[in-house]
Amino acid sequence: MTHEPSRRILITGGSSGIGLEASKQLMQRGHQLILLCRTEERCSETVKTLAAGKAEQITAEGIAINLKSLEEIETGCNRLLQLNEPIDTLILNAGIQNVGIKNPQFTNQGIEETFCINHLAHQLILMRLLPLLQKSKKPRLVITSSEVHNPTSGGGRVGKPATLGTLAGLTPHESIAMLNGQKTFDADKAYKDSKLCNVLMARHFANQLKQKAEEIPVLAWSPGLVIPKSSGGFFRTSRQHNPIGLALFTFIARDLLRLTETLQNAGALLAELADGDSYEQSGFRYMSNQLVSPGRHQFKEAETSNESNNDQLGQELWTLSENLINQKLQKSL
Ligand SMILES: NC(=O)c1ccc[n+]([C@@H]2O[C@H](COP(=O)([O-])OP(=O)(O)OC[C@H]3O[C@@H](n4cnc5c(N)ncnc54)[C@H](OP(=O)(O)O)[C@@H]3O)[C@@H](O)[C@H]2O)c1
Repeated sequence: MTHEPSRRILITGGSSGIGLEASKQLMQRGHQLILLCRTEERCSETVKTLAAGKAEQITAEGIAINLKSLEEIETGCNRLLQLNEPIDTLILNAGIQNVGIKNPQFTNQGIEETFCINHLAHQLILMRLLPLLQKSKKPRLVITSSEVHNPTSGGGRVGKPATLGTLAGLTPHESIAMLNGQKTFDADKAYKDSKLCNVLMARHFANQLKQKAEEIPVLAWSPGLVIPKSSGGFFRTSRQHNPIGLALFTFIARDLLRLTETLQNAGALLAELADGDSYEQSGFRYMSNQLVSPGRHQFKEAETSNESNNDQLGQELWTLSENLINQKLQKSL
């Protein structure tokens, strides 16, 4: 595998899990990292972790942005725009799932958290930082989604499937719980829907670029099921709300049936997507790390769900998300 020489890489969700592992590997390969972390404290902890054991000066800096806050994103992006330095790879990777929580959690601006962090925040970052991506000689966009966006995948079949309906939940009102407008909150479906939004946004963005004859690889991807041994990470909310259920799930999925991918391998895949020579082709691609037998995964280009192929839905999601961002930002001015 060959990799691009030093790139300036901006990542969300680089403070933990797959993103942190990818950041370690990217730094090792000599890239310059900008990590958007939720607080100043998370920024310095992450930079410290990345610097551990390194004699040379490290090339990573943190910018504190809580992705629950559209204003913080706006301020942080303005700071980056003022620097006016190109971004070679933009990695939109941060994500949460609130499985185990019965009632929706809303941000200060009344947006359901899963949707805000996993999708809306990332669309805002993309909208604002596009000029910096366009300044790069070889720009690249990477978006972490999941196979659960697809109702026909193994994980996507369990529980209520991802579907956005007519996006009734995104029409202007104060508190959005579910994107399809359903009244009852379902945290698992909210997560799957947000990962469907990731694919729709990636595809729509790539379509927009194509119309303008702009050549940028837009890579959406799925890491497979990754359950780290540490107590934090992606399953932290489920662990808090249902410790016995999660311990059982972990034992069966990771230790007994070996359905999971390791954090190191998932991080390596993300790092490769960010700088690998094999991902230079412009336009949309979806890569999936699929389980082929216990303990063995194969990373390959894959089909996305029927709903995620709906260009009109992608256009509507982009427009309604943009309207919501504008409405919320104006309100808080
Ligand atoms: N793990 C899996 O099985 C799996 C499977 C498919 C897809 N994915 C996707 O992979 C991506 C990374 O997940 P992971 O497994 O690495 O989980 P993780 O260890 O929990 O990492 C999530 C990252 O997102 C950041 N984040 C969460 N909320 C934030 C906020 N409000 N503001 C700023 N940053 C915030 C976290 O910051 P803190 O460190 O401060 O919490 C952390 O860096 C996610 O998009 C997830 O949907 C994961």
